[in-house]
Amino acid sequence: MSTDLKVNQLSRVGAHSHVRGLGLNDELRAEGREGLIGQPKARRAAGVIQKLIENGKLGGRALLIAGPPGSGKTALAMALAQSLNQPKSKDAKEKSTPFVNVSAAEFFSLEINPTEAITQAIRRSISVTIPEETELIEGEVAHIAISESQQGEKSGKVVLKTTDMEAQYDIGPKMIEMLNKESIVVGDIISIDKLTGRLTKLGRSMQTAQDLQILGVQTKLLPPPSGELQKRRQVEHVVTLHDMDVINSRSQGFLALFSGETGEISQEVREQVDGKIALWKEENRCQINSGVLFIDECHILTMEAFSFLNRVLESEISPVIIFATNRGITKIRGTEYTSPFGIPMDLLDRMLIISTEQLDLNDFQNILKLRCEEEDVEFEQKALQFLAKIAEQTSMRYAMQLITVSNVIAKRQKRNTVHMDDIKKAHDLFLDVGRSVDILDKIGGEYMFHDGADFEKPKKETHAKAASKAKVEVNENKVRIDEDE
Ligand SMILES: Nc1ncnc2c1ncn2[C@@H]1O[C@H](COP(=O)(O)OP(=O)(O)O)[C@@H](O)[C@H]1O
Ligand SMILES: [Mg+2]
Repeated sequence: MSTDLKVNQLSRVGAHSHVRGLGLNDELRAEGREGLIGQPKARRAAGVIQKLIENGKLGGRALLIAGPPGSGKTALAMALAQSLNQPKSKDAKEKSTPFVNVSAAEFFSLEINPTEAITQAIRRSISVTIPEETELIEGEVAHIAISESQQGEKSGKVVLKTTDMEAQYDIGPKMIEMLNKESIVVGDIISIDKLTGRLTKLGRSMQTAQDLQILGVQTKLLPPPSGELQKRRQVEHVVTLHDMDVINSRSQGFLALFSGETGEISQEVREQVDGKIALWKEENRCQINSGVLFIDECHILTMEAFSFLNRVLESEISPVIIFATNRGITKIRGTEYTSPFGIPMDLLDRMLIISTEQLDLNDFQNILKLRCEEEDVEFEQKALQFLAKIAEQTSMRYAMQLITVSNVIAKRQKRNTVHMDDIKKAHDLFLDVGRSVDILDKIGGEYMFHDGADFEKPKKETHAKAASKAKVEVNENKVRIDEDE
């Protein structure tokens, strides 16, 4: 047997790695870039949500992304997260919006109780920006002299200048090492943080550069600095409420941040942190950024968890909470009550709902093409069309799995391009859910604990039909508007 097949590179490409943003233009219309395909309505709605979040107008409200499995709910949320954190202009210093992504199951699998786990997630999605002034020395290097003692100890002097002044500084081994590391020479413009001693090369002085004519492509040319050598500059620290809770909850709190084993945090600590932040806010010393908490697969939440979240949404500073679910009208977990999406009505009432629609053949093909690029697999055009058909008849996720498998099969034939036959083989080797149910229907009796009978295979057409039926008819005559209110 040949042993050509070498696994020399093991890489995992995340399921949504091709998604880089909502891909909307200025009018919030969906465009082809940024990896999302189709879903114009859902993307536009997510774009509106993005604007609302950015303007701080969505506090205390929640969003629900509902749709059948594999219709792109998680992908849409990930796209929103990325669009939220894109710098809006080239030199805008963006405050980033915290975006915390959890699956509801995580709240129940930790060693802490669910309400504590939810509280921690909530507090991770709110951050404070604390501005701080630091002192810098910033100037053009006019002269460097370094000498070494007989014991091998280095010391030296550096002269920094601006167009208005010049000063000489004594430097020790640590600073000399940094100068060497950054290859600082006369004519460079540098900045040294007085507190931390960190050195940054800002660029090269225009004047010197012209004299010397030695310019690398990457060198940034700057006008010679002017004014004082000592400068004050604002820097911003961003910490989440949860980080502050952990740091304040024990003497070695920050170590717990690295290990992630934060345990339960007492109410007193949280009150202390909140008190401190309220004080800073009052003194204008910090800014609070309410971010987004995305809870995927929210049908796993229990009645208690839902009511807890409902209360959170009513509190003074709450993140925007985005839920996603693929459930229909079903029982709320842990109760006998039935509700749309398995979500209690009082919470559902606060939610804006976006629904993702079943994709069409063309969309499937475009997404699969992106996935092939992402996984570095080449497909024949005909093979790609065939795979899109499989996706339409089975599921998007199943078709995505076949990309890797059929690539392995093609490689065994010593080909770099996947042909139709390779996909057929892969499709034959691995069952999709539909075919496996068919088999269970026939021979399920041979398995253990086979309840059989009334398992309903997901039907593809139903969603599209329902969605078109659900088109809202707005009849002006039926909506009464009280004008004098
Ligand atoms: N409109 C879309 N554009 C690009 N990729 C998509 C789109 N919809 C789904 N996908 C991809 O298809 C796969 C399944 O979608 P996913 O978001 O996980 O479905 P859901 O969360 O609704 O069950 C993911 O890899 C996702 O990135
Ligand atoms: Mg999902």
